[in-house]
Parts: sequence; C-alpha cells; structure tokens
Amino acid sequence: MKVERSVEAYETYSRTWISRGEADTARLAGYFAALAQPGTVIALDGDLGAGKTKFSQGFAAALGVRGIVNSPTFTLIKEYEGRLPLYHMDVYRITQDEAEDLGLDEYFEGRGVSLVEWASIIPDLLPAGRLNLHIEHAGGEGRLVTCEGIGAPYAAWVENLPEPGVLE
Ligand SMILES: Nc1ncnc2c1ncn2[C@@H]1O[C@H](COP(=O)(O)OP(=O)(O)OP(=O)(O)O)[C@@H](O)[C@H]1O
Ligand SMILES: [Mg+2]
Repeated sequence: MKVERSVEAYETYSRTWISRGEADTARLAGYFAALAQPGTVIALDGDLGAGKTKFSQGFAAALGVRGIVNSPTFTLIKEYEGRLPLYHMDVYRITQDEAEDLGLDEYFEGRGVSLVEWASIIPDLLPAGRLNLHIEHAGGEGRLVTCEGIGAPYAAWVENLPEPGVLE
C-alpha cells in the first residue's frame, strides 16, 4: 500500500532575512548554492523587479555556471552546467494547467537543481519538500526575503542561515 505523507508531516523552518542591496542577495544565493544537491528545488516568488532573477544569477555564479543567465520568461526553462546542472524556470506567462504538460517532475527529481521563478503560480506541481523564498521590496535597495524550508534538508538550511552582515 502506498503511504501518502501529508505536508504537515514535514518539519518546516521559516524566517525573514533583510537584503540591503544586490550584493546581499548574491550572498544569500551563494549560501544556498553551496548547500545544493541533486534534486534541490527552490521556489522563488515576489513582485516584479523584487530580485528573483538577481538571486538566480547569484546562485548560478556560485554553482560555477559560466556565461550569462537571463530570465527565461519566454523560454520557460533553461538548463546550465555548473557543479551540478541548473534548471532555471520562469512560469510567469503560463497557467498551472498549461504547466502540467511540461513534465516538470523530470526536472524536480533530476540530477540538478531547480530554481522556479513565480513558483506560486504552480502550487500543485511543486514537490512538498522545498525551499520557498519570497522577496519583497523594503524601500530603496532593501528587500525582505522570507525563507521557508519545508522538510529535510531545507528546514535546517534556513535554521542555520547566518545574518546578512555575517554572510560572506
Ligand atoms: N537587494 C536587492 N536584491 C536584488 N535586486 C536588487 C536589490 N536592490 C536593488 N535590486 C535591483 O532590483 C532589480 C531586480 O530585478 P530582477 O530581474 O532580479 O527581479 P525579478 O524579481 O526577477 O523580476 P521579474 O518578476 O520582472 O522577472 C534589479 O534591477 C536589481 O539591480
Ligand atoms: Mg525575473
């Protein structure tokens, strides 16, 4: 018999983190990129211009991806090679119904790391265990990043996340 685990069964750890500028967002991305492993899924959300793509670019650089990482808004999914493969997705222009046919599970369960911009558009297609990052404007170059780690190892990643001034 298949045992379904409910989301409630996952340990969750949540906290807010203040980015004081682009460089902080890149450091945050670097922290998570260093921890990434095959099958890591990071769901990014937040307003237009919040910094989702900036985070993705910092993440890609820290993962050792060479070359330019752009927003894949029109291509939906772009693949890169770094220490691990990187699957960079942006589902802004599609609906959850349309996304069902993309076979995203293949990416989420693949050997690489999935970064999904506008992930809240496809809640039912995301794996239960994941890192949710929600970025909001907080005046000028300030950004409030709500980090939510759901399940292992993500909850511990968030629990151990250093404060902005400490993170290099
Ligand atoms: N603390 C910060 N972190 C990230 N980006 C910042 C920060 N402060 C200013 N910025 C600027 O905000 C913009 C973020 O743009 P970005 O394309 O990353 O947003 P996005 O969330 O991907 O938007 P979209 O939903 O339109 O794709 C960039 O121009 C960046 O230079
Ligand atoms: Mg973007």
